[in-house]
Amino acid sequence: MSFKNSIAIDGPAGAGKSTAAKLLAKQVGYVYVDTGAMYRALTYKALSIGVRIDDEESIETMAAETELEIKPSNCGANTRIFCDGYEVTDQIRSPLVSGNVSLIARMASVRRRLQRLQRDIASQMDVVMDGRDVGTRVLPEARFKFFLTASVIIRAERRYKELRGTGEPVSLWAVKKQVIARDLSDSLRFLDPLVRAPTAVLIDSTNLDIGQVVEVMVSHVCT
Ligand code: CDP
Repeated sequence: MSFKNSIAIDGPAGAGKSTAAKLLAKQVGYVYVDTGAMYRALTYKALSIGVRIDDEESIETMAAETELEIKPSNCGANTRIFCDGYEVTDQIRSPLVSGNVSLIARMASVRRRLQRLQRDIASQMDVVMDGRDVGTRVLPEARFKFFLTASVIIRAERRYKELRGTGEPVSLWAVKKQVIARDLSDSLRFLDPLVRAPTAVLIDSTNLDIGQVVEVMVSHVCT
């Protein structure tokens, strides 16, 4: 297996990873892979069929029986996700899923299963993959690694605008609270916590627009 051309982008919620990753993928002609969508899809399924999110044994059994499929769309610049044959691309973005996903992402067998799937995809094509542990755990051999972050308030405002844009009735206060809770849970968990890989280029997007973020990434990848 060769992962030599892979590009890993990690960072906290709302830092702009997925938007930057999609644009970068388009520019370099790679396929964009959203690892968070996989954790979200399992969370969505559990909530839909009534499996308790804190019942680790049942979640692990459910995860082992779930068929997840990632299909690149828009020439590889977007990802569609299917759970047991049903498309869940839009449903997995709800605040309810966002509020529960970090609990599932702590579970060892869930992580190992999804990481295997992620490596499998990256072994078949050149990818720009985003998440929390891509540079540290999923693709430690990735050629380029970025750690994208921004201040909490800017990240919450971005996520709030995104959700309002889809008609979701949320308040900025609630979104900020959820972003902070997820930051803490993802950074403090025992397994594969959100940390910057030692060789990852740190990009703080607090005062950068998305075009500037992608420009910085391209300047590293294309030199
Ligand atoms: O897009 P956003 O930054 O809000 O989150 P996401 O990438 O969709 O990931 C949702 C959640 O899945 C994260 O808060 C983590 O709890 C988990 N996750 C993870 O543990 N490892 C990954 N590689 C990707 C996501």
